[in-house]
Amino acid sequence: MYERAKNVLPLGVSYGIRYFEPYPFYTARAKGSKLYDVDGNEYVDFWLGHTSLILGHSPAEVVRAVSEQLRNGTMYGTSHELEIALAEQVARMVPTAEMTRFTNSGTEANMYATRLARAYTGKDKIGKFEGGWHGGYDALHVGVKPPFNIPESAGLTTGAVQDTIVLPFNELDEVKKRLRNERAASIVMEQVLGAGGGIPADREFLKGLREFCSEKDILLIFDEVITGFRLAPGGAQQYFGVKPDVTIFGKILGGGFPVGAFCARSEIMERLDSHVYDRSRHSFHGGTFTANPITMTAGMATLKILEDGQLIDRLNRLGQRIRDRVGETFETNGIAAQVTGVGSLFNVHFTKKLVKDAVTASKADRNRLFDYHLNLIADGVFILPTHNAALSTAHSEQDIEKFFSGTEKYAKQSKAMHRK
Ligand SMILES: Cc1ncc(COP(=O)(O)O)c(C=O)c1O
Repeated sequence: MYERAKNVLPLGVSYGIRYFEPYPFYTARAKGSKLYDVDGNEYVDFWLGHTSLILGHSPAEVVRAVSEQLRNGTMYGTSHELEIALAEQVARMVPTAEMTRFTNSGTEANMYATRLARAYTGKDKIGKFEGGWHGGYDALHVGVKPPFNIPESAGLTTGAVQDTIVLPFNELDEVKKRLRNERAASIVMEQVLGAGGGIPADREFLKGLREFCSEKDILLIFDEVITGFRLAPGGAQQYFGVKPDVTIFGKILGGGFPVGAFCARSEIMERLDSHVYDRSRHSFHGGTFTANPITMTAGMATLKILEDGQLIDRLNRLGQRIRDRVGETFETNGIAAQVTGVGSLFNVHFTKKLVKDAVTASKADRNRLFDYHLNLIADGVFILPTHNAALSTAHSEQDIEKFFSGTEKYAKQSKAMHRK
């Protein structure tokens, strides 16, 4: 398949991160906690569609709701009740999200939220953190991978990135220093760095940043594309107890279908209302497939299941068990490793150093992480190599045991190899 794909898809894939040596993983089908590859092998899936599938693959409730909706129209291109209902549901679960605009991806949501912050504050500069990933929007495609001072891609013009200020994660004094003489509209952040390594922000850092943004009239944007509806029904902002001005959602909100959303209190979101603000002061947002009825239906079915927090609590406890056990396994085998993550997200960094930011994470032994994940894949446990792993409500005790046994096998093997 890879040989065929290379002729028509650059790098043979539709998203660069899905490529890994010796060739990408080709899924034939998926159900519950399992992925099946084109050779007929079964894998317990801990990648879960870029962490979006918190209920596993094709959960019955979502399939039922979407099947019914398929008969009533897949795409209206008009307003409809499902978009109102989902925005109401989001507001119930996330109190800071009084109003919502839906998009088709997290990238789009971040792009429109940045525009909104600029329109609302009348300022141009935007802050983002080292190792923060907010999608491929030019102005935020800066400072993602170390070294943070070189372009992340060709084609990013000076104009597109000159107003972006890259900030150090978990270092409040340095953040204040870098922004002292800047007119910043917003600071966008993941409270838990996702692609940056599953690294949580310190609560004190978040609190300090919140105060600083309020003092300086900077909109604090929490990018909850990964953490939203995962760490708590109200997302990482509920989990850490620190409120943003604007929230970005994606992944889980779509119930397995493409989605993004940006939300805020009404007074901020009013900037999107062209009846209130004339063209020079109104912030535009739109898109053909925004709030399509299939995504809205799948998202609603998913959020209803997560709303009372019981399943999320169980996943968070399970996540802690995994982090503890994986940490112990490497320690017992004399392998220097740091297990990061929060709630139902986890990752491993092969380094002696405590991993508090993406810089430390980047200095860990990445080849070893790749090797660990490739060994897990060979043992029927799928994680996209070097990326974060996540849990779903579809995972069984046996699934988790399979992860532990694969990890133990790798740790022992690795210890033996390094002794030679
Ligand atoms: C925190 C975060 N923000 C934004 C995005 C971009 O979302 P999308 O891939 O839907 O454009 C991602 C994607 O992984 C993400 O992890």
